Amino acid sequence: MRLTRRQLITAVARASGYGAAFATMHALGLVAAPVARSEPFELSPGIGKSTKVVILGAGIAGLVAAYEMRRAGFDCTVLEARDRPGGRNWTIRRGTKVEFTDGAIQSCDFGDGLYFNAGPARLPAIYRTMIGYCRELGVPLEVEVNTTRSALLQNDRVFDGKPVQLREAINDTRGHVSELLAKSIQQGALDQEVGPDDKERMLVFLREYGNLDLGLNYRGSERSGALQLPGAADVMEKLRDPLPMHALLDADFWSGMLFEEELDQQATMFQPVGGMDRIPYAFAKNLGDIVKFNSPVKEIRKTPNGVRIAYSDSQGAPQSVEAAYCICCLPLVILRKIPNDLSPRVASAIQNLAYEAAYKVAWESPRFWEQENDIYGGISWLSNGPINLMWYPSANPCSERGVVIAGYAFQDPNSSIQAAFARSRAGVEKLHPGRSGELTSPIYVSWAKIPHNLGAWVSIADLSTTYYSSVYPELIVPDDRIYFAGDHCSRLVGWQEGAALSAQNAIDMIVDHMKHTSA
Ligand code: PHE
Repeated sequence: MRLTRRQLITAVARASGYGAAFATMHALGLVAAPVARSEPFELSPGIGKSTKVVILGAGIAGLVAAYEMRRAGFDCTVLEARDRPGGRNWTIRRGTKVEFTDGAIQSCDFGDGLYFNAGPARLPAIYRTMIGYCRELGVPLEVEVNTTRSALLQNDRVFDGKPVQLREAINDTRGHVSELLAKSIQQGALDQEVGPDDKERMLVFLREYGNLDLGLNYRGSERSGALQLPGAADVMEKLRDPLPMHALLDADFWSGMLFEEELDQQATMFQPVGGMDRIPYAFAKNLGDIVKFNSPVKEIRKTPNGVRIAYSDSQGAPQSVEAAYCICCLPLVILRKIPNDLSPRVASAIQNLAYEAAYKVAWESPRFWEQENDIYGGISWLSNGPINLMWYPSANPCSERGVVIAGYAFQDPNSSIQAAFARSRAGVEKLHPGRSGELTSPIYVSWAKIPHNLGAWVSIADLSTTYYSSVYPELIVPDDRIYFAGDHCSRLVGWQEGAALSAQNAIDMIVDHMKHTSA
């Protein structure tokens, strides 16, 4: 049976979590490769001429919009339903309460200095817009270790369910493939493709690439790790036998092995020191009382030359604000529930859209993975569940305790909190037998159940079918004086970079509109 693109992506997402699903999307060309802005975004000072703008939502898009526009002389108000800035950029520490739409409440009791980034948790170096704002706002960054060759791959069907290291799977696979290719070339099977001049050069390359012996055989490699490292006196290195190709094929570790090859998952990756929310808090500090917290939007209305937004203030009293322009950064599943004057083309475009129910589970734990597995940061992957991955902390290596994420994928939002913890613990036990009992203070964030979000980002099913052809075109043009921003208004859904770029784009459109209108 041939799967359609949509079935393929949904199947991949279900089996392996978001990483593989997004890799599949990249492979299918559904997510455009990011194009860096050639010049840094800069508005001419004073161009705003005190024009009033109301910005809905103090997530990254809303904060970037307000920051840039205020600097250029616009008169901005940001309405934020929560008591904090950041939206999905949310760092959980001791005392943070996680409240679900069904009324369930968790309270975090991590030790001092420990935190969990429930939303974004990595900043690729190639995403210059976000890195640039960190530089500009003085948000200290440190390296986020997104991948380590010491991390583990586990599949119940092979090696008696015992995990293998990424360095083993990667280098042994490469060795076997190089051997096959080298022998085919040597035996003339590829003479059509590889000319006589290149034949010898390819063999030289493959010997190096796959660490083959002179007879072009792969017999294992130090690159795959050693049973015993060389030491002093007569302590000799002992190599491992290579994992057989047949078992590697059975294991199907490919998505975990290739995760770090995705353009936006490659080193160097950063994180703000102390938590991802250092970014929104730095923006909010810069903006001061422009950002109105505890001020949920109640109505979005059009006026002859602008907008009127009704909201309730931090005392719960009804208020409204009029402005010449609105930048609406609310998640689309939230926006469509707010009484509004959106034109039918926008309202119907966002009507049936689904958001992905991404979740993370985090635990406080002693750092057994450091001492037992030489794992410092990076991600281990499980093939058959009950969770898809374990993501180790990058900050403060060799300290006593850390926060580890055990499970970050799409999941039925109706899972009970206790069931999510049980699955998470069982997954850790598969990777680190005997250790899961040391995990404490769990927190489960299921974005579909978080008020003011009701999901993580536009669903992969929508992204891979109709989103960019029939929804997106309605959002990247204004609806009268209402402009849209957020990662969903970019080709980088699920990234802060997309949110920031979309805000800059909305500002460009507003500035352009002002040039062509006197009202
Ligand atoms: N940016 C998120 C992450 O890195 C979600 C995402 C993953 C988006 C992969 C695109 C590709 O986890």
